[in-house]
Amino acid sequence: MTRSTSITFFRPLFFRRNRMAFTSPDPSTCVLDAFRNSIAQRVAAALPPLTVDQVYSGVDYGKKGVDFTIALPRFKLGKPEEVAAKVIAQFQPDELIESATPDKAFLHFQCKTPTLIRDILTQVHSLTHLTPVPCYGSNSTGKGKKVIIEYSSPNIAKSFHVGHLRSTIIGGFLANLYKACGWDVVSMNYLGDWGTQFGLIATGFEKYGSQEELEKDAIKHLFDVYVKVNKDADADPEVKAEAARWFKRMEDGDESALKNWRVWRALSVKKYTEEYERLNIAFDLYTGESMVGREWQDKALARLEEMGLIEDVDGAKIVNLEQYKMGKAVLRKRDGTSIYLTRDIGGAIERYEKYKFDKMIYVVSSQQDLHLSQFFKVLELMEFPWASDLQHVNYGLVQGMSTRKGNVVFLDQIIREAAQVMHEQMQKNEEKYKAVIDPESVSMEIGITGVKIQDMAAKRINNYTFNWERMKSFEGDTGPYLQYAHVRLSSISRKNPHLIPLPPPEQIDTTSLAASSHAREIVFLLGTYPDVVKVALKTQEPSGVVTFAGRRTIDKARAKLWMYECARDVLGAAMRLLSIRPLDRM
Ligand code: ARG
Repeated sequence: MTRSTSITFFRPLFFRRNRMAFTSPDPSTCVLDAFRNSIAQRVAAALPPLTVDQVYSGVDYGKKGVDFTIALPRFKLGKPEEVAAKVIAQFQPDELIESATPDKAFLHFQCKTPTLIRDILTQVHSLTHLTPVPCYGSNSTGKGKKVIIEYSSPNIAKSFHVGHLRSTIIGGFLANLYKACGWDVVSMNYLGDWGTQFGLIATGFEKYGSQEELEKDAIKHLFDVYVKVNKDADADPEVKAEAARWFKRMEDGDESALKNWRVWRALSVKKYTEEYERLNIAFDLYTGESMVGREWQDKALARLEEMGLIEDVDGAKIVNLEQYKMGKAVLRKRDGTSIYLTRDIGGAIERYEKYKFDKMIYVVSSQQDLHLSQFFKVLELMEFPWASDLQHVNYGLVQGMSTRKGNVVFLDQIIREAAQVMHEQMQKNEEKYKAVIDPESVSMEIGITGVKIQDMAAKRINNYTFNWERMKSFEGDTGPYLQYAHVRLSSISRKNPHLIPLPPPEQIDTTSLAASSHAREIVFLLGTYPDVVKVALKTQEPSGVVTFAGRRTIDKARAKLWMYECARDVLGAAMRLLSIRPLDRM
């Protein structure tokens, strides 16, 4: 794989707009908190009646070579020059903070380089290698809280479209993120495994179904049957009526109507589980629309009727949410069968009863904004106090995700195409290719990384056009580049066998690193990772983590090797947070 080996490095620009007004400082998980706290203590002491907490929330990352900055006007203590002068007059350098410099309305602070380097590397090292599981970047702000994250949620027998892929990728990231912040996470796949279409498939299966095909690839076969019977239904209303009757029997719990459906569902879940495993995504629970009990759906309807919000239109029940600018929505069909919206309402209540969650997140495309706001509204109208703990994490559309064979219908088509595109790319460099031990699995891993990174690189809500060229590129913030950076950092240790194993941190002399401004910048960047994680939790956006991982961190001896190992550890941590398996060779 060819790419330039020149290494660039940037300041953590991505923090500028995110004030670090975080929870209380915790140097045991973020050693930069110790430096910020020291700044806050000095400033508070010089500027009564300010408290340390007040100042602390105003200590931001600086720009262009400045470690930390405080914008003085925020304290409303008068002229910035005079306020700054008071702080400067009392300032004494110590082991943590070396200098304070006024600059118009700002006060800049520099950390003492040897302490900074040693403390950050020691923390990365110990929280990566001396803990039961690597946990550098993690924090415990969510301790004792439970979150349900529902994501992916494809429909059995329909296509797995790119919207489902985005939900899978973003949801997988959020599950990692909440875990990293100490939350108890229940990750849930809410399958579209119920509804009239199953009546349709059952009808069609009698004509088009094959047990053999079903066992070979349930997802594909059920989709084929669905497409065929759908055509029949368009031409013949009797097929539709038959399907509706069949679904009604399913809803009424008629075992003979449910038998096949059970098999279809189980086979589909099995196949999906394998594909998610390839994506490095897992669920604690496969639930589905079929599993929502009738009880709460009925209660919800009764309650809304009592409140005068239900209209009866020819026997169908419709909730009127026009006063909330959310239109009208059907809650129950004329034949008494339930629908998507009602199942979501009942399902949320059941989940609360069962899990008593502190928060529940639905990762669903912005195309369903109205649906989610309708069902959140209904729960609010029913006066469930936890209704305000539900959150819709939405995202924009993806265009252009088709393979060379045509439109994407199934998840495994995307995975296969990504692997193939990468494989072809790798084969272009014959010599390197020959050195790769398992090119099939390496290309699949890089291909999947490419798809994920392209998806998470920009703000969720943006639409984007998927681009296979960009996906396979080793230049810029791409998946292959991140893997490449991790591989290079891993290979530095392998290529310097005389330096390893590294002695314990206290025996490594890091003075030589302190002399290099480049090394200082790299280490400072590593120190910011715990904040990257906190910002991501606040915004629920993976893009900041992608940007962070894309900051280049490569370029005597043990101190440098230690730094590189720490750089690899942190890059690896960020990649794992993004649900990517970092490679050590490629
Ligand atoms: N299965 C649905 C679809 O493919 C997505 C489900 C989203 N989650 C929910 N609770 N409504 O459109």
